[in-house]
Amino acid sequence: MIPVSCGQIAEAVGGELAGVDPAAVVDGPVVKDSREAGPGGLFVALPGERVDGHDYVEAVSAAGVTVSLTTRPVEGCPCIVVADTQVALGELARLVVSKLPDLVVIGLTGSQGKTSTKDLIAQLLRPYGVTVAPVGSFNNELGHPLTALQADENTRFLVAEMGARHIGDVKYLCRIAPPTVGLVLNVGRSHIGEFGSQDAIAQAKGELIEAVVPGGTAVLNADDPRVAAMASRTSETVKTFGEAPDADVRATGIKLDAGGRPGFELHIGDSTFDIQLQLVGEHQVSNALAAATAVLAVGLKPEQVAEGLNAATTVSKWRMEVTERADGVTVINDAYNANPDSVRAALKALVALGRARGARTWAVLGPMGELGDTSLEEHDGIGRLVVRLDVNRLVAVGEAARPIHLGASLEGSWGDESAYVESSDEALALLRKELRQGDVVLVKASRFVGLDRLATALLEEAPQ
Ligand SMILES: Nc1ncnc2c1ncn2[C@@H]1O[C@H](COP(=O)(O)OP(=O)(O)OP(=O)(O)O)[C@@H](O)[C@H]1O
Ligand SMILES: [Mg+2]
Repeated sequence: MIPVSCGQIAEAVGGELAGVDPAAVVDGPVVKDSREAGPGGLFVALPGERVDGHDYVEAVSAAGVTVSLTTRPVEGCPCIVVADTQVALGELARLVVSKLPDLVVIGLTGSQGKTSTKDLIAQLLRPYGVTVAPVGSFNNELGHPLTALQADENTRFLVAEMGARHIGDVKYLCRIAPPTVGLVLNVGRSHIGEFGSQDAIAQAKGELIEAVVPGGTAVLNADDPRVAAMASRTSETVKTFGEAPDADVRATGIKLDAGGRPGFELHIGDSTFDIQLQLVGEHQVSNALAAATAVLAVGLKPEQVAEGLNAATTVSKWRMEVTERADGVTVINDAYNANPDSVRAALKALVALGRARGARTWAVLGPMGELGDTSLEEHDGIGRLVVRLDVNRLVAVGEAARPIHLGASLEGSWGDESAYVESSDEALALLRKELRQGDVVLVKASRFVGLDRLATALLEEAPQ
């Protein structure tokens, strides 16, 4: 963290100093995990599910942190005592960001593709300035401030992934790091159970656009009507991306190569560039256009954007990771998360890959969470799509995924084309028995059903 005195921190977070000199300076890392605490740092004691951070205050003090943020004084340890340590962490991050006036903040939100797009933006920016971006999906009221606190005087760009579960979440994150560029990818159906409607989701995501700083840019998806409509929520510059003919940054001629990786013509103003992405799945085109538009808004040249997109690779794990086993079975591991839009995108990539290789295709699908009362209908719809896309074999895993199997059967799958199994172990057993050389297997689910382990197991073994 940039050097800040404990007195100043206490003032910013509305805390009381306990056993600490107000002049003592924090200039080390800010952490919530005691194992990462070190000299000069600050430890945030959070109430955890199993452990209470306060139990570690003594240990981190011994490890040399300057101070801990706590909700009560801890005997013999330097503390700043506050009512709520998570809120205080946000205030601390806000203080640090406000001390870095030249920092360019690129905030992004959306129902799908935040992490993929964040990784693209960070890769595009890195050659042109020190860039701080979250690890994985650090996108909530803890991950976001912890990421922002990594920025210092040398940092030029902060890329901030912002997740929303409730109205007001994105607004809160933006208050910590006001966005120079606010990018909204799409309004899908994830968390619809909590929001109630897609319009409410749009309302929540659009908070990012309202928070764009004066002189900043709102970047909107021209292909998603709910996102395009957010233009009315700012008076700052608006740039759009998509396949729509009037988008500022456009793609035409999208084709998947034999690896399921999309190529396209990128149009920026009057210039056109040939792009061949290294990422798998057509849905990455939208993410690439979004990333391109965001970095153009902070001053990259179109040529630099094109060069960066052609070179960019997958960074975060379990998102359409394609691996070929020694026996020629290809596994597409997308076991990070599953919602109707991302399952559809993944199925199309599977089919493209299968077609290019003349291979048999398998969709191993777990349940999609957080769909509220549309759950049955959405799972059924995925089953039907599997049949329409002509995927050769479907394995629906876990009780909540049974309607996928039923939907496929109703749509005309027969014999062993579609199967339902209760657990990922059973799915693995079935695959072990029936996979043939050259098959392409998509494993797609939310992490909780353990299909990530199935994907790993599939990769670790290559039956002869
Ligand atoms: N533009 C897109 N449209 C539809 N699906 C997408 C898109 N981009 C990525 N996906 C798929 O959505 C899933 C989640 O991708 P990613 O992790 O990038 O999204 P996220 O918005 O960060 O998710 P989370 O809310 O869990 O952090 C992946 O399975 C990926 O294949
Ligand atoms: Mg994410």
